[in-house]
Amino acid sequence: MDQITLPIEGLLEGQTALVTGAGRGIGRAVALYLAKAGASVGVSDIDATSAERTAGEIREGGRKAIAVAGDVSSDASRREMVAATERAFGPIDVLINNAGIMQVIDLFDLKESDWDRMLSINAKSVFFLSQLVLPGMVARKKGAIVSLASAAGKAATGTKYLHYNVSKAAVIAMTKTMSQAVAKDGVRVNCVCPGIIDTDMWAQIDREQGVQMQGMAQGEWMNQRLGQVPMGRAGTVQDVARVILFLASPLAGYMTGQAVNVTGGWITY
Ligand SMILES: NC(=O)c1ccc[n+]([C@@H]2O[C@H](COP(=O)([O-])OP(=O)(O)OC[C@H]3O[C@@H](n4cnc5c(N)ncnc54)[C@H](O)[C@@H]3O)[C@@H](O)[C@H]2O)c1
Repeated sequence: MDQITLPIEGLLEGQTALVTGAGRGIGRAVALYLAKAGASVGVSDIDATSAERTAGEIREGGRKAIAVAGDVSSDASRREMVAATERAFGPIDVLINNAGIMQVIDLFDLKESDWDRMLSINAKSVFFLSQLVLPGMVARKKGAIVSLASAAGKAATGTKYLHYNVSKAAVIAMTKTMSQAVAKDGVRVNCVCPGIIDTDMWAQIDREQGVQMQGMAQGEWMNQRLGQVPMGRAGTVQDVARVILFLASPLAGYMTGQAVNVTGGWITY
């Protein structure tokens, strides 16, 4: 965890959170922050070992967490991650739809199976997992959902992952619609749009698009992209996780239906 001292203790005291894709990257950082803020966390990931690792880190920090292995694109898995988290800690107050994949492929080569897999994991799962927790949140008049969209859902950030861009635009669209359906019930639904964040996913883009497609040195393509970022650096997972924590917390009590950029100034709308 980074060294920034935040007065976040107690912000989510007594709440139950479920974070998907929390074995590494942004999801792991979010799970650690939510726990630090007092939430008990269901740490879900398709990779059981990494989910266990994050849950262990939270418990070492004196907070509560369980690991739930599961694939967000499977209905049975989604039901199990919700049920296991609620069995352990009670009804879910905070859902973070973070799990996602990237695939670098030219749009002229994109196959229907690529499209279906991308949309299933990055978009369809966000809606159907939200649909599982929303009725309980509405009944209790309390809850917050934050999903991971992307700058790629707003701007033409790259031509080699059209289906990824579409999946993230879909997350923005469903966030707006879901937020309106539950706004009067004390439930808030928002998403974040990160830009270039230093994670394994970004390393994959650099490798597949820069090194393999264009013969660049490792890191060269990413450095070129960073030239477009006014702050001149990649974001850290903590940069994104702090905004997600804010949106999930009562500090953002009058915010819903928003797609909040975390891009170092790259995207301004
Ligand atoms: N890194 C960036 O620059 C960036 C920018 C914008 C948006 N995002 C979004 O943020 C989210 C997290 O990205 P990251 O960079 O931390 O990625 P990452 O690849 O480092 O981590 C993603 C995690 O999701 C898990 N996962 C993948 N498929 C899954 C599935 N079907 N079911 C459950 N878990 C699954 C992986 O095992 C992994 O732990 C993603 O939705 C991504 O699209 C990332």
